[in-house]
Amino acid sequence: MIVLHDLSKRYGTTVAVDGFSLEVPRGECVFLVGGSGCGKTTTLKMVNRLVEPTSGRVLLGGEDTQTLEPHLLRRRIGYGFQQVGLFPHLSVAGNVGVTPDLLGWDAARIRERVDQLLELVELDPAEYRLRLPHELSGGQQQRVGLARALAAEPEVLLLDEPFGALDPLTRDLLQQRFSEIRARLDLTVLFVSHDMAEALLLADRIVVMDQGAIVQVGTPRELLTSPADDRVARLIASPRRQSEAVERILEAGP
Ligand SMILES: Nc1ncnc2c1ncn2[C@@H]1O[C@H](COP(=O)(O)OP(=O)(O)OP(=O)(O)O)[C@@H](O)[C@H]1O
Ligand SMILES: [Mg+2]
Repeated sequence: MIVLHDLSKRYGTTVAVDGFSLEVPRGECVFLVGGSGCGKTTTLKMVNRLVEPTSGRVLLGGEDTQTLEPHLLRRRIGYGFQQVGLFPHLSVAGNVGVTPDLLGWDAARIRERVDQLLELVELDPAEYRLRLPHELSGGQQQRVGLARALAAEPEVLLLDEPFGALDPLTRDLLQQRFSEIRARLDLTVLFVSHDMAEALLLADRIVVMDQGAIVQVGTPRELLTSPADDRVARLIASPRRQSEAVERILEAGP
C-alpha cells in the first residue's frame, strides 16, 4: 500500500504538484493522466525520492519514505522512466540484472531471471542478451526498461509512459503481458500515460490531474459515465469517438 499525503513540489515560483493526496491499496493499478506539465512525472518521482517533496509525506507499507535510505527504497520499487534510459555501457543482461546484482543474488539466479524477463517482453535472450543499448531500437529499449523495472520482484512499480515508443501490435501485446504480470505478482502500480484508451483499459482507478492538482479520481467506468468537469470530458472524448466509429463500421455490415 502506498499513501501519498498532501504532497507538493515547488521549483522557484513554479508549483509542479499542489497538495496531492491518494491511497493506493496493495495490488491496485492507478493511472495518472492529464496534459503536458500537469505534474505527473514529478508526482511519480516523489514516491521513490528521485525528487524530494517540498512538503507532504509518502508512506510505503506504513513506513515514511523519508526514514528510508533512498538507494534502499529504490530497490523495493521498480521503475521505468522513458527519460532515465538504460545504462549505456552495460549490456541488455547487465541492465536487466542491475538491481538483483545490487541485492546480492547469485549469478545463476540473475541469469535465469534475465532470460525469463526478456522472453516476457518478446526479446529473444540468445539474440539480445549481450547487445548494448545503442544497438537496440527505441521500442526495444523500452522493453528492456520494463524488464529491468520488474527484475528484482518489486512490491511497487512506477511506470512513466512505458509503452510510448512501441508499434501498436507490440504495445497491445505488452499491455496484455503487463496485466497478467501485475495480477500474478499482486503488484501495486502507479502508471503515467498520455494514452487515455490505455488508461481506460488497464487501470483500476484513474487520477486526472491539472496544474499539479487532482481534478477527479475514479474507476474507468466512473470517468466515462460521470466526468467531473469539461477537462475530464475532453480527455475521454477521443477514445469514445474512436470506439464508436469502429462500432459503426461493424454495424454497417459488409
Ligand atoms: N527540475 C525542474 N525544475 C524546474 N521546473 C520543473 C522541473 N521539473 C519539472 N518542472 C516543472 O514542473 C511542472 C510539472 O512537470 P512534470 O514533468 O511533472 O509534468 P508532466 O505531467 O510529467 O508532463 P509531461 O506529460 O509533459 O511529461 C512543469 O511545469 C515543469 O516545467
Ligand atoms: Mg512527464
